[in-house]
Amino acid sequence: MPREVKSRIAILISGRGSNMLALADAVREGSVPQMEIAIVISDQPNAAGLAHAQSQNLPTAVVERRGRSRDEHDRELVTVLQEHQVDFVCLAGYMRLLSSHFLSAYRNRILNIHPSLLPAFPGLDAQRQALEHGAKFTGCTVHFVDQTLDGGPIIAQRIVPVRDDDTEETLSARILDEEHTLYAEALAIVNGGAYEIVGRRVVLK
Ligand code: GRF
Repeated sequence: MPREVKSRIAILISGRGSNMLALADAVREGSVPQMEIAIVISDQPNAAGLAHAQSQNLPTAVVERRGRSRDEHDRELVTVLQEHQVDFVCLAGYMRLLSSHFLSAYRNRILNIHPSLLPAFPGLDAQRQALEHGAKFTGCTVHFVDQTLDGGPIIAQRIVPVRDDDTEETLSARILDEEHTLYAEALAIVNGGAYEIVGRRVVLK
């Protein structure tokens, strides 16, 4: 029997928001079934992605750090998420680490996308790290967020070749194309619920 109630997603951004837009498209087109975007939140009032979200009539909010501690900032964020009855949180270019309060409020319900095949090249500038390392293949990863940096259980990955003439820009663009479909696929898996987290592994049922 189809479920009546849709899961509500918050997408957290800090910048241009192309993954946020790709997720919003996927939700609208039905490739992420039974979900709706509850809110797009940015910690940066001038994030380009905020204007893009507004132009698509998505609800938005800005929760700035304003010199507060990570814990204080995240407590406000969690309050906003709860007010919007959010079930899942998708980090999409959100440039902050999360506090333990946030992590435990949404345990195994926070996803992140990272532009490498984790556990290779965590942290900033993953595409540049792959080029500088001389990797022949890299890619993108959607994973659950835990207290480690880009280290939580992996939900889905996509491989992208590195070409000899790649620059950081060309490689990033090739990876980004894959990110835009991978995130929706991973979110559909999670919302479908047909998986188990066994140790570090996300095992599909
Ligand atoms: C993406 O490459 C994502 O993997 C990383 O930050 C970038 C965000 O891009 N976490 P956008 O804001 O979604 O366009």
